[in-house]
Amino acid sequence: MTTYEPRIDGGVSDDERAWWKEAVVYQIYPRSFADSNGDGFGDLPGLINRLDYVSSLGADVIWLNPVYDSPQRDNGYDISDYQAIHDEYGTMADWEDLLSEIHAHDMKLVMDLVVNHTSIDHEWFQKSRQGDPEYEDYYIWREGDGDGPPNNWQSFFGGSAWTYDEEREAYYLHLYDTSQPDLNWENEAVRQDVFDTIEWWLEKGIDGFRMDVINLLSKADGLPDGDPDSEWVGSEHFIDGPRMEEYLEAMDEQVLSNYDVMTVGEMPQLGVDEAKSYTGTDGPLDMAFHFQHTKLDYAENQRWAIGEWDLQELKEITDRWQNGLAEEGWNAIYWENHDQPRVVSRYGDPVNYRRESAKLLGTFSLTLSGTPYIYQGQELGMTNSPWTSIADMRDIDAINHAKALLETDDYDEYTDIQDTISYRSRDNARTPMQWSPSENAGFTEGEPWIQLNPNYDTVNVGDAEDDPDSVLNYYRRLLDLRDSHDVLVYGDYCDLLPNHESVYTYTRTLDTNEGTERLLVVLNFFGDETTVEVPVEFETATLLLSNYDRDDDDPTTVTLAPYEARVYDLG
Ligand code: GLC
Ligand code: CA
Repeated sequence: MTTYEPRIDGGVSDDERAWWKEAVVYQIYPRSFADSNGDGFGDLPGLINRLDYVSSLGADVIWLNPVYDSPQRDNGYDISDYQAIHDEYGTMADWEDLLSEIHAHDMKLVMDLVVNHTSIDHEWFQKSRQGDPEYEDYYIWREGDGDGPPNNWQSFFGGSAWTYDEEREAYYLHLYDTSQPDLNWENEAVRQDVFDTIEWWLEKGIDGFRMDVINLLSKADGLPDGDPDSEWVGSEHFIDGPRMEEYLEAMDEQVLSNYDVMTVGEMPQLGVDEAKSYTGTDGPLDMAFHFQHTKLDYAENQRWAIGEWDLQELKEITDRWQNGLAEEGWNAIYWENHDQPRVVSRYGDPVNYRRESAKLLGTFSLTLSGTPYIYQGQELGMTNSPWTSIADMRDIDAINHAKALLETDDYDEYTDIQDTISYRSRDNARTPMQWSPSENAGFTEGEPWIQLNPNYDTVNVGDAEDDPDSVLNYYRRLLDLRDSHDVLVYGDYCDLLPNHESVYTYTRTLDTNEGTERLLVVLNFFGDETTVEVPVEFETATLLLSNYDRDDDDPTTVTLAPYEARVYDLG
């Protein structure tokens, strides 16, 4: 157990303080991080070799995507054994080395917890489909409705959420791929098995869990049909379902609360009110990922359609979450993860202002209230990749959707849908980490499991290390800034110009025993120069950080270059 050592006096009560609020999390997708044995797959020994790099960023916590035994149909989110390491990643001994090395680097390790579903290869499912009395109710089995599935629920990856199993002669529910059957949380034995698994990992000394699609555990009684027009058909009956609170509270009471760990729930379609009850003072979790800001570039609410994004919408969403959780609950701040395309390619300009916009977007994440998450490569300003054929893609989700689109009468060939598929594919986040300009970006000496982004010759760690103006070195300054300014962790947020179309500017303010700390952030989110009057009063102002070379300390009338970001200390 780690004991908390407060960094500041006064202003913030002991109840409010927590190490996970002061932390910056670095997310590692191990399959694409570093390959040590030339088989083309990233692995745990490769990752251990790169811990100095992660620590050099100033990260406090590593969130590791699933490394459990799995047939890898959904890259490890389809688990066949919760207590074993998938052999391409290494052995349990490698994993134990990893944990102790992370701790030796003064960082913490958060593991992925995927317990809404397992793989069909899991022993529980094998026994369940055979009707083994101990396991028959471990999954959600139903008779069909006439010739069709039991209801109209859709899988997130497309198609019906039900698959007929010849052996059991019944349908099983899978809210994701057909190889990912949903566990039946109504069954107490399932809950107990999951809680035991959680405890087993906590006993090994890990520091927390990121909980995969955790607000999907409880399904409405009777599994009624969903609104056929909704974004995800059936979701009103399986998101934040009737027994959600009960399940998470039991998990917290029986296991989590016995350890000093952090928990972050991944929660599709999460709203502020639900987040408050999940993450508030009596809530079972510390924080949760919502998705509202990741949908700004959807057209007509559709993931597989691209639309123009709007800064005012980003402000509305951010204001709602920053203010909504100011008194109760805690935010998890992120742009990227292994499911999201690269943010520079979405809300920045990957062609004309790659560096500037990557730095701007980073400044935003690292100066908001909440725990910031950085996804591997984001700190380099990595961009989306060109996906010129379906054969190059690996993401089960993108491939399923591409195939479904091509089956309609609207499209004939891949080039007709390439713009959308290549922009949205989760593979964009999964191309190998770019370590150097040498072959395969220094990721592997073999054949990489997925193609590299061809820009690795210019966007890579090696070159960025040598360049004081690189995105990487700017991220280091951002993490430093956060580390040395408690106001960035505990301060109040205030949006100064909610209606401005291109500039986003806000303050963070904290009262301490030594007086009031206040920072001002000014961000030009677009590629045109713009001059803005910032409505703020202050005695002294000092420019702490900018992504341009500036020495101007006056924040009242500011002329901002394309994608310029500035952070001032308002004394
Ligand atoms: C989460 C994961 C995603 C996975 C899905 C099903 O959204 O982040 O990668 O495919 O859950 O487990
Ligand atoms: Ca390997």
